[in-house]
Amino acid sequence: MKKFPKDFLWGASTSAYQFEGGINEGGKVPSIMDNKEGHPKYGKDITGFKDASHHYYKWKEDISLMAEMGFKSYRFSISWPRIIKNLEGDVNMDGIKFYDDLLDELKKYGIEPIVTMFHFDYPDFVSEIGGIQNARFSNLFEIYSKVLFEYFGDKVNYWLTINELNIMVLSSSAIGTGDDVSKWQVMHNLNVAQAKAIRLCRKMLPKAKIGPAPNIAVTYAKTCDPTDYTAKLNLDQIRNWVYLDIVCRGSYSKNFLNFVKASGENFVMTEEEKVILNDSKPDFIAFNYYSTATVSMTKSEDIQKDKADQQKGIVIPGFAKMVPNEFLEKTQFGWEIDPIGFRNTLRDVYDRYQLPIMITENGIGARDVLNEDGTIHDDYRIEYYKKHIEQMSLAIQDGVDVIGYMPWSAIDLVSTHEGISKRYGFVYVDRDEFDLKDMNRYKKDSFFWYKELIKNNGENI
Ligand code: BG6
Repeated sequence: MKKFPKDFLWGASTSAYQFEGGINEGGKVPSIMDNKEGHPKYGKDITGFKDASHHYYKWKEDISLMAEMGFKSYRFSISWPRIIKNLEGDVNMDGIKFYDDLLDELKKYGIEPIVTMFHFDYPDFVSEIGGIQNARFSNLFEIYSKVLFEYFGDKVNYWLTINELNIMVLSSSAIGTGDDVSKWQVMHNLNVAQAKAIRLCRKMLPKAKIGPAPNIAVTYAKTCDPTDYTAKLNLDQIRNWVYLDIVCRGSYSKNFLNFVKASGENFVMTEEEKVILNDSKPDFIAFNYYSTATVSMTKSEDIQKDKADQQKGIVIPGFAKMVPNEFLEKTQFGWEIDPIGFRNTLRDVYDRYQLPIMITENGIGARDVLNEDGTIHDDYRIEYYKKHIEQMSLAIQDGVDVIGYMPWSAIDLVSTHEGISKRYGFVYVDRDEFDLKDMNRYKKDSFFWYKELIKNNGENI
């Protein structure tokens, strides 16, 4: 039995603000990410996103490296502030040209573009109206979506609406998209923005496919104490399902609405929005997977802690408390590694929604070492990928319809909150936190391994 379908989309991912640099080039207006230096929460000596990996200048070389690895697809994000200049929606033609050229280059190599419309970096001018918390956010996103569909509709077959909408809600302070005072209003506004983009895509580009791209990972109950299972159901609800239910089923579950009410929180939803939400189903589900969560029911002494980052945190009294999983090893950066959880998650998502699935992130952040001879021996990354791809193939044998795998990241880029020292790429970018060096690209051992894997369509795993 073949492990992967014939046209399986092997590739990898990046995002504009973490990869491009060139923040003042080509008419780009400021984004909320441009001037972040270090991370206020951790106080670490880490770089911000001003320079990133200089992909803005080296995009041709970068795409040729992807082509050399044999990529069938490349998932990248378009930077909203490179495209739209102001609240009125004026278009920056230099920004259009940048991505148009990039799309042509991908086409030259036969690489399918998978385009994320918004990956954390909204333009500063959106902050002038209060950012995502203002219901007008969805109108601005719709204006931007229209421009993307108009200019790139003939070159892009797959659109991803919003990267990790759920993480923007649950860990907004860690990734720097603002505080989460009315997080459910933020969630709802993002859901409406997403729905408007899907609706518009249907109208303008009937042949294109569009889907959401949250970060999904199943939750385990720490013990078979029934209250731990209730905690698992609870966390699954606010960590995973609410964001997929709204887009795939068109409404919020009663369970979720009751939870919001019981927490003394609220969000405003108009009748018109209800109609839009119910009228904008996706063609596929894309999701990012790094690690599972394990929970137990809280005890009276537990308190709500700060959310540490995308994979840690969350303590909600009487609801759930995330705890370490003793069966799992961790990365150098403390993220649990759970390849079997990947198969479990794929099965859960598919059982629930029965839509094709595309994996748009998965990977290991590590302190890679560039040797004097230009080699980087990242055997731990190969090991990580082997195990995850093996589990993905088992999920496919279980019956899950997986159409692509685009791990994080194609080439080194700056982590959301841990600088350039936390590297994910198949290609090493020679720069340090504050010394930009020459930004030269070096192929890691995983580069050659992934190239071979793609050549064999994963049969040799
Ligand atoms: C996801 C994001 O949360 O995880 C990426 O979509 C991010 O933008 C990736 O880089 C890895 O997280 P981090 O914090 O290690 O960069």
